[in-house]
Amino acid sequence: MVENIPSLDEMILSATELFRNTYKDEPNIIVQAPGRVNLIGEHTDYNDGFVLPMALPLRTVIVGKPICGLEASMVSIASEAEDGKTLHTFNISKEALKPGSPKWANYVKGVLANYKGGPFPAFQAAIVNSVPIGGGLSSSASLEVATYMFLDAISKEKIKVSKVEKALACQKAEHDFAGMPCGIMDQFISLLAEENNALLIDCRDMTYSSVPFDDPSMVILITNSNVKHSLSGSEYPTRRRQCKEAATLLGKNSLRECTLDDVKNLSALGASEDHVKRARHGVSEIIRTEQAARLFAERKYEEVGKLMVESHNSLRDDYDVSCPELNRLVELAMEVEGVMGARMTGGGFGGCTVTMVKSSTVDKVIENIRKNYPLKPTFYICTPSQGASLIKAFV
Ligand code: GLA
Repeated sequence: MVENIPSLDEMILSATELFRNTYKDEPNIIVQAPGRVNLIGEHTDYNDGFVLPMALPLRTVIVGKPICGLEASMVSIASEAEDGKTLHTFNISKEALKPGSPKWANYVKGVLANYKGGPFPAFQAAIVNSVPIGGGLSSSASLEVATYMFLDAISKEKIKVSKVEKALACQKAEHDFAGMPCGIMDQFISLLAEENNALLIDCRDMTYSSVPFDDPSMVILITNSNVKHSLSGSEYPTRRRQCKEAATLLGKNSLRECTLDDVKNLSALGASEDHVKRARHGVSEIIRTEQAARLFAERKYEEVGKLMVESHNSLRDDYDVSCPELNRLVELAMEVEGVMGARMTGGGFGGCTVTMVKSSTVDKVIENIRKNYPLKPTFYICTPSQGASLIKAFV
């Protein structure tokens, strides 16, 4: 069975209901921001490389209302996620905005602290989310970006800020308030995605181009392994540091400027075996991603699929961020005819795989995984969705 993805209208209804029940009032602002799946280009964003994500029909919806009155400084947020309903209230003065508990509220607080659009009033809000938490599909970025969109709707001065700058502000929120030194991919795609298109993002200069993906004969299947290994948080900064150190040893700013021949010289320059492996993944993945985007546009899905599998193997063997569950899901997907490619997606150590498969055979893939994967996986069939949007504002 495939997960039923709630429609945007259903999510707006639940969020509005939650708002009414919590505050006995009606919201007058509605915003949404999607999660993402990365087709290829993993652990390349912080190496100034390319990524090729698409937005998902899984998203965060925020409804709310500004609180009038000059002295109002308390924000209340009701949230309904996988882990139940909570109401969190905090002060929005700059001095009071600090990371704390609950953890999910840190993403909101971080965005409030890093908002670039000018002063905004206190507010009441309700949040609902359909992106699985901790599944590697960017539930946190979708919350950050939805928060940014909400502040845009209530801000007083409406200072013009580009979407890329907004993405950077949300990334900083995650660095400062969640302690996660993430790259720019997740926030970028959540803000800039277009329906029926993946996005090739050049994380060095923040330019991007749409890569059409609207072929009805092909679908993207996301399989959530439903495991999350404890290494997921701690290993990320280590990988990031190792890549930077390898580039520095080669006299370069980032792995984007290095070639595979450079990587071969690393050992002679005194690099550890781990550094060589990390650099080999980073450099080869950047090359694969640019190639994949070109092949995608030409609808050469079999060739894209091969690159996806190479990407997975490189993440497994050189980058050491996969795990037995993800490897098994990729193997099981690849056993089925009609599958172009499959790989782990996101930071790794659990979370999801992404499979590109002919629409006519996607059921067989699901069946093969269900029969042979020892845990209980969750499936989503997705097409590229639109980026964050303001749905309604009557302030
Ligand atoms: C996490 C980070 C992203 C990116 C991926 C790996 O999702 O938030 O910036 O680095 O891992 O590609």
